[in-house]
Amino acid sequence: MTRIVYVNGRYLPYGEAGVHVEDRGFQFADSIYEVCEIYGGRLVDEARHMERLERSLGELAIPMPMSRAALGQIMRQIVRRNRVATGLLYLQVSRGSAPRDFSIPAGGLKPTLVCLARGLDGDKREARANAGISVSTMPDIRWGRCDIKTVMLLPAVLAKNEAARDGSYEAWLVDAEGFVTEGASSNAWIVDKTGTLVTRPTGNAILPGVTRRTLLDLLIRENVPYSERPFHVDEARHAREAFITSASGTVMPVVAIDGAPVGNGHPGQLTLRLRSKFHQAAKLSS
Ligand code: PDD
Repeated sequence: MTRIVYVNGRYLPYGEAGVHVEDRGFQFADSIYEVCEIYGGRLVDEARHMERLERSLGELAIPMPMSRAALGQIMRQIVRRNRVATGLLYLQVSRGSAPRDFSIPAGGLKPTLVCLARGLDGDKREARANAGISVSTMPDIRWGRCDIKTVMLLPAVLAKNEAARDGSYEAWLVDAEGFVTEGASSNAWIVDKTGTLVTRPTGNAILPGVTRRTLLDLLIRENVPYSERPFHVDEARHAREAFITSASGTVMPVVAIDGAPVGNGHPGQLTLRLRSKFHQAAKLSS
């Protein structure tokens, strides 16, 4: 349960926390965010999340609301005050609030900063990983800068809900040529016919996932062959294994695509090995 939320300099009870009705995040999705895993009460790959946060802000010319160190202090406070051992930390920075106007006010605004943490049922997540998840494919109708982690998430919301209606846990978004871009809230991976791990290269079409990056480090360390190249939905359907990566699920096996089994229909051996080793490759905060 979330008890305490940080909003613009104050730690407030959950029920009393709020931002202005004319916040540009609310009106224009003029806002970016980060989601960081909390593992054993510690933040996972905090530095990489901070780097991505700074990059997202930079791309939109929103100033950093404070130094990285000060942000880190707030994040730690929020984990502690909410007593979260296993869960997620959410941090959002919007451009700020002003009377509604598409033009960004000259001179800039004071960014809005919100930070909260929430516990996650670790057993439920393990059970999900042991069973594996299903994904449904659908057209990627998002904008051309998916590398920026903005709160403009309506296409992802609709995709995930459509997937859920099909009995799937995640949507795999597919570009105009039939290649998988990524999941609605995760990066997509397969193990191809040669046993090589494949994931789409970073660029404007996908979010450069922190979990993705840390997993690549693990692959290098473990000498697992991999290739950053686009893969077609047809290739995914015939893959040996498939999985998704995200802060909320780390490495999560995919056992069915559009209702058809991947491999033998069970979580892949390599996928499960990488999942079990993931936190050894990640950096945990003190
Ligand atoms: N989602 N791609 C998209 C579109 C995402 O929204 C996410 C993360 C990822 C994986 O990134 P990372 O490994 O840094 O979590 C890829 C988060 C968890 C969310 O929105 O809840």
